[in-house]
Amino acid sequence: MTYSLEAFVNDLRRLTAEGGGPKDILPEVAPLAAKLAETPGWIKPDFYEVDPEQGIGITVLHEEADHTLLVETIVWAPGKGVLPHDHQTWGCVVGLDGIERNTIWKRNDDGGAPGHADLTVYHEANVGAGQTIVFMPDDIHSVQNHGDTPTLSLHIYGKSLAHVSRSEFDPDTSVVRPCPIRKKRPAA
Ligand SMILES: [Fe+2]
Repeated sequence: MTYSLEAFVNDLRRLTAEGGGPKDILPEVAPLAAKLAETPGWIKPDFYEVDPEQGIGITVLHEEADHTLLVETIVWAPGKGVLPHDHQTWGCVVGLDGIERNTIWKRNDDGGAPGHADLTVYHEANVGAGQTIVFMPDDIHSVQNHGDTPTLSLHIYGKSLAHVSRSEFDPDTSVVRPCPIRKKRPAA
């Protein structure tokens, strides 16, 4: 199969230039992400390097100069994950190696009480190699690697997550707060 990261980014540019919203873009992005996931040769060993403080390792493969179209891989160490969060832009994840548990959360309150959010589990999905999951800007999910080997996935977002104002949720304490900006490294 002939596809490449460069061709994928060009396809993303073409799709987003058509001016549609997330509901138009995501059904087009997901199969292309799956096609890239099936393409051999572009996954480098250093994509598997975990930042010990975060328990995950993020390698940025592409971001436009105006901070749109973020493409990055994330490796998740065994037993590691992230708390529920939103993205405030459209998102698509495709599995590359191993199985990641995605939990989709439902927010039950109206957002009227600052710092408070009442979440319950809505849906759980295992995302394995070549499988995709998509997110609308307000969707809330958490991710966990329940296995005993690292997992790797490719993440595509409409905007750089460092340049949006998004939230992190603690379902145990019903707290909502600004999502921490994760440490990332550029692709070598
Ligand atoms: Fe996420």
